[in-house]
Amino acid sequence: MSVVITNIGSLVTNDQNLGFGLLGEIENASVVIEGSKIAWVGPSGQAPAADSKIDAQGKAVIPGFVDSHAHLLFAGDRAKEFQARMKGEKYSAGGIKSTVAATRAATDQELEQNMLRLVREMTRSGITTFETKSGYGLTVDDETRALAVAAKHTHETTFLGAHVLPEEYSGNPDGYVALIVDQMIPAVKPHAKWIDVFCDRGAFTVEQARQILVAGKAQGLLPRIHANQLEHGGGVKLAVELDCASADHCTHLDDSDIDALANSQTVATFVPGAEFSTRAKYPDARRLFDAGVSVAIATDCNPGSSYTTSMPFCIAVAIRDMHFSPEQALWSATMGGAKALRRSDVGHLSIGASADLTILNAPSYLHLGYRPGVDLVSTVIKAGKISYEGNK
Ligand code: NIG
Ligand code: FE
Repeated sequence: MSVVITNIGSLVTNDQNLGFGLLGEIENASVVIEGSKIAWVGPSGQAPAADSKIDAQGKAVIPGFVDSHAHLLFAGDRAKEFQARMKGEKYSAGGIKSTVAATRAATDQELEQNMLRLVREMTRSGITTFETKSGYGLTVDDETRALAVAAKHTHETTFLGAHVLPEEYSGNPDGYVALIVDQMIPAVKPHAKWIDVFCDRGAFTVEQARQILVAGKAQGLLPRIHANQLEHGGGVKLAVELDCASADHCTHLDDSDIDALANSQTVATFVPGAEFSTRAKYPDARRLFDAGVSVAIATDCNPGSSYTTSMPFCIAVAIRDMHFSPEQALWSATMGGAKALRRSDVGHLSIGASADLTILNAPSYLHLGYRPGVDLVSTVIKAGKISYEGNK
């Protein structure tokens, strides 16, 4: 089955061989999808015939967003904590524990339903690939069942047993690290691709993070890390040392962190929703782009620090408050996310790539930042199939 999308006013391919600028843009374009893949891209009017046709009516088409960082396996919410923060309380890693209690009490089915509710929201915002972490179970069984649920719906599953020290290990961090290394990693391995550690104040130290990530790598999991969110620490440099695919948050970076990232394959993933929702100071992405670091934008969807599934919202905040240019922001939410997951099949619309794309109710991707808070998603196509149809 082939489909041609004609009359695209402005197409973003993220392939500089196909179009102009960082985003490989083509005006008045068509795209042909064959099965689940992109088969042809070029000027409208020159497209080969296909079995069916979608008329984009001059609207913009962009690659599907790749959300490389989310925490979708939990129960309950922490709206009261948000309310207290907006009245002046500070965010701390300790809030995670209330979600742990609710998550342990939830059935597998409740966890799955809550996750799928969030995945539907993601799809409606134009996300076509998502990662999700565990990290609210913190027992061998609760981490394993969370990842088993996640693995039914995405390949990008991340074991985050090292999210915070659970109550029952209070005062015994070494015991909990040993539990992660000796029991959790072997148990979750069939359901997890990645391993992550929250390396920050109130969570895990650099030494603990190194021990856990090295153990995970030895057992076949690929490393990524939550680093430098709450304070400046050694997390980003550890990410580079261990060849993590991504160092996430990066709220507090000094020049030596940026140098280390620039000389590595590690992507710096920014999560604008977290600074927004914790009233933290926004990091300045210009420093990283100037140094040649690969950057991603992710939602970090979680019930504590960033309860959003909207990539357009994250893009708008990144442009407004983190000094991304509009093209850098879109690139980071698509190609950047794909790089952070070490994926070459998504995040762009080159020939042979997965046919994951969104038709926007707008003449240009620029409207993602220019019209903040407005639902601009018209049609979402994932692996060649329509997965969502919104406003026309
Ligand atoms: O990415 N920073 C660590 N973990 C999550 C927040 C978890 C929570 O507050 O529940 C984050 O922001
Ligand atoms: Fe996170």
